[in-house]
Amino acid sequence: MKVSYKNKSLQDNLTKLKSDTSIGFVPTMGALHEGHLSLIKRAKAENKIIVVSIFVNPTQFDKKEDLSNYPRTIEKDLALLKTVDCDIVFIPSAKEIYKNNISASHFNFDGLEFEMEGKHRKGHFDGVGTIVKRLFEIVKPDKAYFGEKDFQQLQIIKKLVEKHAISTQIVGCEIYRERDGLAMSSRNTRLTDIQRKEAPFIHKTLKSAKEKFKEKSISEVIKWVENEFEENSVLNLEYFEIANIETLKSAKRKSKKSTYRGFIAVFADNIRLIDNIALN
Ligand code: PAJ
Repeated sequence: MKVSYKNKSLQDNLTKLKSDTSIGFVPTMGALHEGHLSLIKRAKAENKIIVVSIFVNPTQFDKKEDLSNYPRTIEKDLALLKTVDCDIVFIPSAKEIYKNNISASHFNFDGLEFEMEGKHRKGHFDGVGTIVKRLFEIVKPDKAYFGEKDFQQLQIIKKLVEKHAISTQIVGCEIYRERDGLAMSSRNTRLTDIQRKEAPFIHKTLKSAKEKFKEKSISEVIKWVENEFEENSVLNLEYFEIANIETLKSAKRKSKKSTYRGFIAVFADNIRLIDNIALN
């Protein structure tokens, strides 16, 4: 496994390895867990060479505190990456990515950026668009892998490549869960024992919402989820929305032609957890 800290060294490593071969890319912010590894294994199965990046991108954090609290476990990450036969790890510094100007570009994602996470994390998707576009320019992957755990991010990246005529194919990967249903996340390590015990309630509620969605109206399902969380003293609901997967706009009435997902964001104290589920 080769580790590159500089763009130049990454290019040298890629040139050495690249001869008529396909590059699969998995961008991450580190603090790797089985969820990340599931993307990497898929990339490994579908490409000759895989590149994983680890970069805690400052421009996508709307709260300074969230950026400074973000777990950084680089030694453990490198050990994990060796177990999945990663070919190249790219660990750039902020300077390598942003030179002397750590700021996000502004993007138009046809409105996808104003829904859900966009409403609650100002500027977040400009930061994500900036870093992913920059990483794509550097790595030039044939395929790039993103988790449905961050479904809105996945749809936005698909829009990014479409609008900027980037030739990378975007592959969406299923949400990888703990045995008790909690979606794996780097933030789970920050949960207290009590919060961790309660956290599977999020997925359990989403699964029940999916059942209810078969019979009940959208507003009834939303009300039901809100009531469930009102009775939970550990988890605070930020939002639960049922949205069309193409537009990500909150749906009012069901249409047989549309595909819907339920999207949720929950706070355990100041730790923010997100999840989603396919409804039909
Ligand atoms: P990060 O949160 O590290 O996630 C990296 C990738 O792993 C994302 O595509 C995310 O959706 C996926 N992922 C995380 N947990 C998952 C799970 N439980 N199941 C399946 N996939 C999972 O998302 C980011 O980093 C950043 O925004 C990034 C795209 C790297 C840009 O900075």
